[in-house]
Amino acid sequence: MDKTQAKKRINLLRTKIEKHNYNYYVRASPTISDFEYDHMMKELTGLEEQFPEFSDINSPTQRVGDDRNEEFEKQYHRYPMLSLGNTYSLQELKDFDTRIRKAINDNFEYVCELKYDGTSISLGYINGELSYAVTRGDGEQGDVVTKNVKTVRSIPLKLQGTDIPERFEMRGEIFMPHGAFEELNEIRRRNGEALFANPRNAAAGTLKLQNPSQVAKRKLDCFLYYMVGENLPTHYHYENLQKAQEWGFKVPPYMRKCTNIDEVFKFIEEWDEERFNLPFDIDGVVVKVNSLRLQDALGTTAKSPRWAISYKFKAEQAETKLLSITYQVGRTGAITPVANLSPVQLAGTKVKRASLHNADQIALHDVREGDYVYIEKGGEIIPKVIGVNTEKRPANLKPVTFITHCPECGTKLIRKHGEAKHFCPNETGCPPQIKGRIEHFVSRNAMNIETGKATVDLLFRHGLIKQPADLYELKKEDIARLEGYGEKSARNLINSIEASKKRPYDRVLYALGIRFIGSAVAKTIAEAFPAIDKLMNANMQDLTAINEIGEKIAHSIIEYFSDENHIKHIERLRKHGLQFRLESTKKETTSNKLNGATFVISGTFRDYSRDELKEMISQYGGKNTSSVSKNTDYFLAGEKVGPKKMEKVRNLNIPVLSEKDFEEMLKK
Ligand code: IVH
Repeated sequence: MDKTQAKKRINLLRTKIEKHNYNYYVRASPTISDFEYDHMMKELTGLEEQFPEFSDINSPTQRVGDDRNEEFEKQYHRYPMLSLGNTYSLQELKDFDTRIRKAINDNFEYVCELKYDGTSISLGYINGELSYAVTRGDGEQGDVVTKNVKTVRSIPLKLQGTDIPERFEMRGEIFMPHGAFEELNEIRRRNGEALFANPRNAAAGTLKLQNPSQVAKRKLDCFLYYMVGENLPTHYHYENLQKAQEWGFKVPPYMRKCTNIDEVFKFIEEWDEERFNLPFDIDGVVVKVNSLRLQDALGTTAKSPRWAISYKFKAEQAETKLLSITYQVGRTGAITPVANLSPVQLAGTKVKRASLHNADQIALHDVREGDYVYIEKGGEIIPKVIGVNTEKRPANLKPVTFITHCPECGTKLIRKHGEAKHFCPNETGCPPQIKGRIEHFVSRNAMNIETGKATVDLLFRHGLIKQPADLYELKKEDIARLEGYGEKSARNLINSIEASKKRPYDRVLYALGIRFIGSAVAKTIAEAFPAIDKLMNANMQDLTAINEIGEKIAHSIIEYFSDENHIKHIERLRKHGLQFRLESTKKETTSNKLNGATFVISGTFRDYSRDELKEMISQYGGKNTSSVSKNTDYFLAGEKVGPKKMEKVRNLNIPVLSEKDFEEMLKK
């Protein structure tokens, strides 16, 4: 690259990074992944080193991001709030160790900690009382958020104990635990509000709310990992944190002293797996020199200390070629663009397809057929496209033009105001919508009819079902004639369909597939309207009077029941004996198949969330416990169970079940 090209690229990267800094720190709503951001930053740092004539103290490489906004009073930090140098490479971590060893030339200790993925905070204590709480801001000056921070229950307002300096600061990370995050998003979904993309954004956004009583409801938490000030109790970081714990601070229990880099590597390796079992997000490990004297001797750069580094876990990502984009039609008619990829290995599986979500996402990343794209496997099973390697873009690739007609039935697509997705409105004639609705109807949380996608497809192709109600008119002989079916399996299916008539009203309500009515909302509605006739006649006011039902859901219900075909369908289902009213206090019949057996669940699962598995265990008469002991009867293991836990399970000879084994167990 020559000088002119370098200058151009440097300017472009600086502008882009500034924009992403704003999205991340101020709007708490990033549009790219951390990995992409770090990648750009690394490229910019490299170019600035190679072309020092273009260095600039205002470059984003020289400054920490800036979270300040106009709505808060500002305060200068007594000690700057620095950022941390980061790396994704163990070799670079080793280089860090070599540099430190050279400078120190003596024995010393590291402290390894987790890198909490939230938003940083500085808490000022004067005479043992919380006096102020300030965000990082630009590192020099931040927003005063004391009132909001005071609502975080784990932050002590008054300290107890000995050796408390007259004035000092505790720094740490405000975060939102997974449970609180899911709860918050569930309420937002019900109210038709925009969802937070992850717990970090939710925590950062919450901390900047104007109303502390709203903040208090959001269940934030805080780990404190750094003490600054004069007259600290000891000259060691680790020991100071232990003191802090005695005074009442929530100091993370996941810290370890290490005397060499191999011990650091071991810590990293353990947490790379175990992190999935934590009830909050971490994105890496922070390694710090323990001695404060050595920290002083090593010093800092403008942006970060030389005595610490963060090693970030590699998000499970891969780069591959996007061969084509096709479009899937869901049961609600929603269109999802899908990237068909040149097969690539990712987190243990071969990936050929990834989601592109909607037209906006395609436009945001300017993804084109023929591009090399980054894909990532997050918590969800289907990987997603998270960005494009534009440097590898072949010439003449055309921007994507989103389809205008349904790929399955040819109907013109619509896009409702304020919605990200395109829809096929042909509800009754579009095959994937018909099949999707029936698949949803029979699914476990709905009518729990023991059949699957393949059978629904088969029955549909033979013209035996077009609507869920048709299931109740199937004859055993019709099914027995189908390929793969015999007398016995046909009888089983008929029995299972028959048994579904006993499913409680809220499950039936959920099974109908009304937009935005998930199983939890269905339960709420069933309780508020104990008979479907009442619900059918409810108006906007009746519906929104229910706690947690917002306008979006209310609107969807009214729209659903204003369609005559839906009413006719419900009448057919009612004739077949399905439950359309709440059976007073009687609980859903549960079996005692598990006979009191004790389960421990660990890892991540393909088909169920942990909560769903827990519910299934108690529904079938089992018990859930959180830690493995000699009293554990079964260990239900998903992917990425921590090695320590697995070792314990093996030592205690506890039977290990996969998701499939567990399903089988319930079916037996
Ligand atoms: S120490 C001067 N320790 O990471 C060093 N930071 O990228 C001060 N973070 O701004 C930070 N976990 O918000 C430290 N165990 C930990 C951390 C941690 C998360 C955050 C913190 C910081 C950012 C740097």
